[in-house]
Parts: sequence; structure tokens; C-alpha cells
Amino acid sequence: MKVVVFGGTGRTGQHVLTELARAGHDITLYGRRAPQSWAGKAITGQLDDRRAVAHALQGADAVVCALGSSRTGAVCLPASRSVIAARIPGLRYITVAGAAVDVPGDAKAMVDRIIGGIFRVLMRKMLAERQAEYQDLAASDLDFTMLRPPMLTDGPATGNWVLSWDTPVSKRIARADVAQAMVAALERKDLIRTAPFIAAAKRKPVT
Ligand SMILES: NC(=O)c1ccc[n+]([C@@H]2O[C@H](COP(=O)([O-])OP(=O)(O)OC[C@H]3O[C@@H](n4cnc5c(N)ncnc54)[C@H](OP(=O)(O)O)[C@@H]3O)[C@@H](O)[C@H]2O)c1
Repeated sequence: MKVVVFGGTGRTGQHVLTELARAGHDITLYGRRAPQSWAGKAITGQLDDRRAVAHALQGADAVVCALGSSRTGAVCLPASRSVIAARIPGLRYITVAGAAVDVPGDAKAMVDRIIGGIFRVLMRKMLAERQAEYQDLAASDLDFTMLRPPMLTDGPATGNWVLSWDTPVSKRIARADVAQAMVAALERKDLIRTAPFIAAAKRKPVT
């Protein structure tokens, strides 16, 4: 697939690049800068520049968005809005938000609802942005998948991750595992227009 990556310089994004390359995808980075070590295709541009994003997405099959979230918001939401506005038929869009985002059908455990409530107070703008992002994606006709991980950790991929639909199943997951799941999601039609939780596996997969 021809895949455009947002956030390729980030901590999850660098693992995304590794996984995409391993799977043989044709990668183009889009962002305000390319990683210093990156020798592949890269386009410099702003995420809220809809014309520039639409131009970068011409001929692409998919976008993988691993952008970081700023406390003040205004990073991931403009990126998703630019992709939606590009209206590219059949484009696959994989993004990563967080387990505190609420989606219809959730049945979060009490502890996760409490953690979500704390996040909503401490990171009000950021969480509001991610919530709005989900709502915009759901209202669009884009073939999106929004993964919702718990706290991210560094370190190597374990490959031991699981998706779940009603509630998170762990409190931490490695960024490398999230990246693996994002790239795997490119090939999964059953994940189109869904926002599963992703977590380190500790019980039988629900998917
Ligand atoms: N931290 C956690 O425990 C946690 C938990 C659940 C979910 N998440 C979510 O997981 C995602 C990935 O997290 P991460 O820690 O891997 O991210 P990260 O390392 O903070 O990602 C930084 C990336 O975002 C880009 N970026 C940030 N602000 C930007 C802006 N204003 N304009 C353009 N690019 C911008 C950076 O580009 P430059 O190189 O140009 O700066 C870089 O590529 C985030 O969306 C986060 O909300 C995190």
C-alpha cells in the first residue's frame, strides 16, 4: 500500500515507520519536519493546511496518524479534519487516541471511568480534542480506525497485544505494540469505522 504517515518523528511514529517498512509498504512522511535519519519520501507541511494535505494524499491508499497530543489540543483534530476534507474514496485512516475517549457501546469498568474523569479535568483541552476527533470521524464517510490505548511505555514490541470493544484490558502498553497494531489494522476490514481499545494481553482476546 501507499501509506502517508503523520507523526513519523514521534515515539510511536518511529515504530510505525519500522513496521510499515517491514510489511513492505510504500511510505511518505508528512509533517513539519522529517526524522534526521529518514532517507525516504517526505513532504513538509502543516496538518491544518487542507490543500497541502489533500495534495500529499493524492494516490495514497492509507494514512497512519501517530501524532502526539498537546495539552492545549490542536494537533490531531486538524489532521483528521484535513484527511476527512480531502474526500479520497477508499482511503484508509488509522489513528491513535486514548482509552479515556468515549465511544457509543463502551462499557468501561468503574476504574477506567474514574481514570477518564481525572483526565477530563487535568487534560481538558486535549481530551476534548480527541473526543471531537472521534465524533468527526464517525460523522464522516472515511474508512477510519481509531485505536484507544491506555498509558504508553517505551521498549520493544512484545506482539502480545489485544483489541477489545467494551473496556480496556490493561493499564499500559508499549508504543511499539501500538505501532504494530496500527499497521496490522491497514489489512483488517473488520476494523473499518471502529475505535477499539488496545492493551497488553492478559486474558483471551475478545476480537
Ligand atoms: N502518553 C501516553 O501515555 C498516551 C496514552 C494513550 C494515548 N496516547 C496517544 O498516543 C499518541 C502517540 O503518543 P506518543 O507519545 O508516541 O507521541 P509523541 O512522541 O509525543 O509524538 C510526537 C509527534 O507528534 C508531532 N507533533 C506534535 N505536535 C505537533 C504539531 N503541533 N504539529 C505537527 N506535528 C506535531 C511531532 O512532530 P515534530 O517532530 O515535528 O515535533 C511528532 O512527530 C498520541 O496521540 C497520544 O495522545 C498517549
